[in-house]
Amino acid sequence: MTANRLAELKHKMETREARIGIVGMGYVGLPLALLFSGERFHVTGFDIEARKVNALNAGDSYIVRILPQAIQEAQKAGFRATSDYSEIDQMDAVIICVPTPLNEHHEPDLSYVTGTVKSIAPHIHEGQLIVLESTTYPGTTEEVVVPLLEAGNPLGLKVTRAPGEPGVHVVFSPEREDPGNETVARHDIPKVVGGCSPDAAELAAAMYGAIFRRVVPVSSPSVAEMTKLLENIYRCVNIALVNELKQLCMKMGIDIHEVIDAAKTKPFGFHAFYPGPGLGGHCIPIDPFYLSWKAREFDFQTRFIELAGEVNIAMPYFVIDQLAAGLNEHSKSIKGSKVLVLGLAYKRDIDDLRESPSLTIIELLRDKGALVAYNDPYFPKVGHGRHYDLNMTNTPLDNLGQYDAVVIVTDHSDYDYKAIVEQSLLVVDTRNATKGINSPKIVRC
Ligand SMILES: NC(=O)c1ccc[n+]([C@@H]2O[C@H](COP(=O)([O-])OP(=O)(O)OC[C@H]3O[C@@H](n4cnc5c(N)ncnc54)[C@H](O)[C@@H]3O)[C@@H](O)[C@H]2O)c1
Repeated sequence: MTANRLAELKHKMETREARIGIVGMGYVGLPLALLFSGERFHVTGFDIEARKVNALNAGDSYIVRILPQAIQEAQKAGFRATSDYSEIDQMDAVIICVPTPLNEHHEPDLSYVTGTVKSIAPHIHEGQLIVLESTTYPGTTEEVVVPLLEAGNPLGLKVTRAPGEPGVHVVFSPEREDPGNETVARHDIPKVVGGCSPDAAELAAAMYGAIFRRVVPVSSPSVAEMTKLLENIYRCVNIALVNELKQLCMKMGIDIHEVIDAAKTKPFGFHAFYPGPGLGGHCIPIDPFYLSWKAREFDFQTRFIELAGEVNIAMPYFVIDQLAAGLNEHSKSIKGSKVLVLGLAYKRDIDDLRESPSLTIIELLRDKGALVAYNDPYFPKVGHGRHYDLNMTNTPLDNLGQYDAVVIVTDHSDYDYKAIVEQSLLVVDTRNATKGINSPKIVRC
């Protein structure tokens, strides 16, 4: 691509004239679409789920923290959704935000990424910017996305490698969304960008620079892919560390939360992580295993990841043991006990159930013969998902005395924990939600 053509495309980004296509209108793609739209870009959302496309075009939202008004505002700025990939051709940039889960063998499942790339490849054009934001192992952009794009477009377009080369520009730029985090504004989260060519990186920096205060260019897509994994592995390993220390502290009669609160007063070299009932969400329980899988190709074992996984995966079982011990004090067993699970979401104040430890806890309780109910204002019903089949409906938060135990799995802010403890026979608190409440009914774990 000539220097003039690159400058022209950058100018389109900077002046918000560029048309942005975002593929995958989920927890990542939809907020991103609204962010671009809020900055006066013309945005088209692509999704294969007709339910989502129809909802968005009707000005509705299917994510609790995104209000329908936000969708309607975006519509005024030209936002619309579609399942028609032929519209990709009209976009100046296409950002891919589709799922990257693990399959049943705990290996990367890139089928959503490859499916998307195969669908868009026939519609790409010269000078277009294609960005992958889905979290994945280092090498995905170069080894998977680029060959599919090059093989799948009828114009024989190539991905640019050197400055000035004609073709499509391909970039990896990890998403750093933290659902429910109200303290850091989305545009204040720096955006890491790694391009297959300097032109690709420059164009992506111009686009993201229009909505993020800081863009951090790195030398390649692989560096950007590894950056995201380092961030998530760092969290996964540190959460495992506090989960293990919590178990030791319990044996020693020390409150791990008091320890963490004291340690975090150190103004350098310490970052607080908190123990809990196990990992949840689309990222932390999954992403590290993308790297361990890739590492095997290099005869390398990622021991920290495996060990952290072992500790974190065991946490729901630890909660069950603590519940059993608590019931035992009341001369009861799990079998036949009525247990209320409080909070299903994988973390506080969000409507996301993916990989939530509550699902494992409910299944373990049912296997042991407990009569399980749940309360979570974010989920009126829970049917079945990739790894669970619950078929339950939300139970009102009254008459708590009917349950042999209440297990706090998610510490939603709306719960009145004092009242919950007062009305319950036994409370198993996995989140330190009852901090400051003194009662022999509470088992903190
Ligand atoms: N949710 C988070 O907090 C978060 C944070 C950082 C990174 N990520 C990463 O971002 C990516 C997306 O995650 P998410 O939480 O938004 O997932 P999601 O499941 O909420 O949304 C993905 C969307 O993609 C759509 N989709 C799937 N295949 C498609 C295709 N071929 N064409 C068009 N649409 C398709 C689905 O219908 C869905 O609406 C993942 O790689 C995830 O690891 C997520």
